[in-house]
Amino acid sequence: MAATASTTTAFAAPLVLGTKRSSTCINVEPAHRLPRYATPRMVQSEVKPTTSTATTKTTPATKPKTDVNLDWANLGFQYRETAGYVQCSYRNGAWGALEQIDEPYLRMHVGATALHYGQSCFEGLKAFRRADNSVGVFRVRDNAKRLCSSADRLMIPQVPEELFITAVLEAIRLNAAYVPPYGTKGALYVRPLLFGSGAKIGLQTSDEFTFLVMVTPVGDYYRGGLAPVTAALMNSHDRAAPRGVGHVKVAGNYAADLQPATQMKAAGYPINLYLDAQNRRTVEEFGTSNFFAFKDNAYVTPDSPSILPSITNRTLATLAQDFGMTVQKRPVDIDELKEFDAIGACGTAVIITAVSRIAMGDGTLLEIGDNPDVVCERMKRLYEEVRAIQYGEVEDRHGWCEIVKLD
Ligand SMILES: Cc1ncc(COP(=O)(O)O)c(C=O)c1O
Repeated sequence: MAATASTTTAFAAPLVLGTKRSSTCINVEPAHRLPRYATPRMVQSEVKPTTSTATTKTTPATKPKTDVNLDWANLGFQYRETAGYVQCSYRNGAWGALEQIDEPYLRMHVGATALHYGQSCFEGLKAFRRADNSVGVFRVRDNAKRLCSSADRLMIPQVPEELFITAVLEAIRLNAAYVPPYGTKGALYVRPLLFGSGAKIGLQTSDEFTFLVMVTPVGDYYRGGLAPVTAALMNSHDRAAPRGVGHVKVAGNYAADLQPATQMKAAGYPINLYLDAQNRRTVEEFGTSNFFAFKDNAYVTPDSPSILPSITNRTLATLAQDFGMTVQKRPVDIDELKEFDAIGACGTAVIITAVSRIAMGDGTLLEIGDNPDVVCERMKRLYEEVRAIQYGEVEDRHGWCEIVKLD
């Protein structure tokens, strides 16, 4: 299938510090020089341009690497360099061709609205190696839809669903060698990013945008099995204002959480639980994951317009129903925390974090359930079921996985 093209410009060679450009001459060791920008290559794409009438051109993409040798058992959750990423630009009212970039750098205008005004949103999903060596990606269409809602809120043109999916699949294909082997319980973390890349100085939307998909291999977070943690209830900070941007995955939400989350981690609480910003009465979500709880036979999760709709939460709620539980999406008052049998935080990165204790911020420590030192069987079962679906070990009865064509 032909690649789609509108206007694609090869990056100009960058200036190097310490050459003519600099008025004060700084001696820069070669290792500290600005990186060279690789020329982008068009990649095979089945996506039609949104409005462009430009002719279609295809250049074969670089052959993916196959000789990656990583310590798969000890990857952790951190950035690791890969073969590259894919990107696409929006100019003159249309998305252009998808390009492959063979290095981890991005050349952008210093006046880009993403840098100055936070006109930037992103997604997070994972691809998994299966026993037959194929690779499956989990719920990619749901991430495509959520990115559209984030884009709308930030006045960024939507990335059409098929372009999103093609870009994700191309990024995985390019980095197939970085998908951890089956059995190591790792995954390829996929990070689509969408931002205003055109220059504006007054506050207004950009007229140029960049959509890219980068990836990095990550390890099994719970090598010793699910372990319970103590969360901190946030009394000192709010995450999202009513009618603000809490319901979308925009960069600024995470910048705002950095300071309180870092302080709480230093105090021994790996995750922090936010309340509604208006009344500080109802539970919202953790800094980077949704809240859920079990109460008798119910899977309970807060209903609020300022929570990010977690795809993992939807997955768990569906599976809880499959297992005969009822699902309650409703406001959760802080006084109800002590009545829950178990509490969890959920998100793509780890699926579930069992929360067995909550530091309430007034010096009291709330213990959840009968035995806070043990993760309950229902939570383990949900966790194992999600993993089994992701690794293709049980039937994908809800149609959540797409298989990536590798050749
Ligand atoms: C604020 C917030 N809530 C919830 C989630 C979990 O969402 P998902 O399950 O789609 O990863 C995330 C992670 O993306 C998040 O950043």
